[in-house]
Amino acid sequence: MHGSTTGAAPPIAVQRWSASDYAKNGRFVQDLAGPVFAMLAPKPGERILDLGCGDGTLTAEIKAAGADVLGVDLSDELLAVARMKGLTVQKADGHALDFVQEFDAVFSNAALHWMRAPALVIAGVARALKPRGRFVGELGGQGNVAAIATAMRAVGASRGGDPAHVAPWFFPTVEEYGGLLAKHGFSVREIALVPRPTLLKTGMEGWLRTFGRSFFDQFEEPERTAALNEALELLRPSLCDVQGRWTADHVRLRFSAERNGED
Ligand code: BEZ
Repeated sequence: MHGSTTGAAPPIAVQRWSASDYAKNGRFVQDLAGPVFAMLAPKPGERILDLGCGDGTLTAEIKAAGADVLGVDLSDELLAVARMKGLTVQKADGHALDFVQEFDAVFSNAALHWMRAPALVIAGVARALKPRGRFVGELGGQGNVAAIATAMRAVGASRGGDPAHVAPWFFPTVEEYGGLLAKHGFSVREIALVPRPTLLKTGMEGWLRTFGRSFFDQFEEPERTAALNEALELLRPSLCDVQGRWTADHVRLRFSAERNGED
C-alpha cells in the first residue's frame, strides 16, 4: 500500500506520493506484474480486493477480466487518479482492513512491502476472504534493492540523516512470509523469491526521486541534491551499464495462498 502517515514508529512506511512521478518513474511496477496477475487469474463475477491499488492500473485489468473489484490504498493522490479511471476505490489502511468474508480473492502487487506490521495485514486479509478464498501477491523479498538501500544508508550516515527513512520497507524471506501466512490460517500453494533486475526506463535518478523521496526530503537544499548525486555515483559502477542504462536490483517474493475452510 502506498502509505502517507507520520508518527514515531509508523507501521506504514512514511511516503508521500506524486501521482505524476509515480506514473512516470514507477511504471515498471505494473508493467512487470504479468506473472503475479496470471497467478490471480481473475474470473468474471468474482469479488476481488486490490490491496494497495495505487493509481488503479492493475485494478482496471482485474475489472476488465469481469471481476467486481474494490481497490484500497492510503494515498489520496493515487486514489484520485484511480477514481478518474472509473474504478471503485476507497481509502483504507492495510493494517486495519475491516471486511468480513466478503472477497473471493485478495490481490496485492508491490504494496505489501510498505506495510511493516505484516501480521496485522495478513490477519485482515484472512478476515476479508471467504473460506477457500485466495490471497495472491508480490512484494519485495529479502535482498530487494539492497544496493540502492546501501547507497542511501551511506549518504545518510555521512550527513547525520535519520536511519528510519533509509529503507522503510519490509522485504521478507520465503520462510518468514510463508510462516506468517500459515500462522494466520492459509495454505501456501506457491511461494518463491525471484530475482528480477529491472531496467529503469527513466533512470536511477527518477527511481530515487520517486521511491526515496521521504529519505532525500529530510535534507535541505543544496544538501538534498548533493545526497542524491552522491547516491547515484555510488550506484553507477554496479547498476549502470556502459550505454548508460540503469537497472534496479529487484528481488520479488511471489506467493499464492488459500484461506483454510471453516471446518
Ligand atoms: C519494489 O517494487 O520493489 C520497490 C519499489 C519502491 C521502493 C522499494 C521497492
